[in-house]
Amino acid sequence: MELQKNHKNNGTWLEEEMIEEIVETAEEERGIHPNNSLNDLTAKEWIPETVSVWTQKGLGAKHPEAQIERQHPAPFSFTDVSRLITFFTKSGQTVLDPFVGVGSTLKACALEGRNGIGIELNPYYAQLAEERLEKEVPPMFIHTTSQRVIVGDARTALNDFEEGCIDFVVTSPPYWNILHKKDHKAKQERIANGLDTQYSDDPNDLGNIIDYDQFLEELAIVFGKCSTVLKPRGYMAIIVSDFRHKSKYIMFHAHIADILSERGLDLKGITILYQRHKRVFPYGYPYAYVPNIHHQYIVILQNSK
Ligand SMILES: C[S@@+](CC[C@H](N)C(=O)[O-])C[C@H]1O[C@@H](n2cnc3c(N)ncnc32)[C@H](O)[C@@H]1O
Repeated sequence: MELQKNHKNNGTWLEEEMIEEIVETAEEERGIHPNNSLNDLTAKEWIPETVSVWTQKGLGAKHPEAQIERQHPAPFSFTDVSRLITFFTKSGQTVLDPFVGVGSTLKACALEGRNGIGIELNPYYAQLAEERLEKEVPPMFIHTTSQRVIVGDARTALNDFEEGCIDFVVTSPPYWNILHKKDHKAKQERIANGLDTQYSDDPNDLGNIIDYDQFLEELAIVFGKCSTVLKPRGYMAIIVSDFRHKSKYIMFHAHIADILSERGLDLKGITILYQRHKRVFPYGYPYAYVPNIHHQYIVILQNSK
């Protein structure tokens, strides 16, 4: 947890220099390299995180703290996001999620001692994000960090941010309009349980754009603006999955990396997020090969500025 200026220690108000000294000593004791400018991890904690396959860890649908996130058709797991946040930021830094949904990124930020800013078009999800912070994060984490949800279209909301004010961007955007697909098995289950199957009917919802190339262009606008508000050499992690459209396989992760290379974001690596918990369906059987897509990609980019 970040030590604030004038932090009270054993009843005495500390000067900033003393606080720095305490932080440095604590870091030394933990074995954090004195030149580590990226995160608060020791070598032992850092190195395993660079292995390019992670297994997705969720709470499980029945967990009491999974009930709010369940209202959203495509949340990501806050525990996976926590790993990214602790790798790509130091305590007290600021993280942006331009498609924050029900606030998984903000929950992770609060629990990891980082400040979070999320943008969400659908006011209902924004409200659920606030509710989640209230119900799922102990108050001491909320009081020592700042978590903010902005309701709006990321394409315009980002215009109000100062250049370079963000330390790390992590997000999962709409995957084009795949939530509109009728035949999806998981969708049938959500319908049966009275849960949302798409984000909204709002024409500004990027998940409602019909043409794939236009969708990519609009997404590039959002990420281009994210790169302006991201600090120089700052990192961005985008969690996406590839998908099928009719008989075609769409390499969404590769298209994202391509469009962003033209917007000053260099591809640094891809981590595969293995979704071991997903059910296997007999797609294509017994006529054709149709994959059960049981992984996502974490596309990791760096501001070239
Ligand atoms: C894949 S979901 C993100 C889920 C989020 N990671 C979570 O765990 O809740 C994408 C989100 O983008 C939102 N969205 C779609 N178009 C948007 C836009 N133009 N500006 C901001 N948010 C938008 C959708 O409402 C949806 O909640």
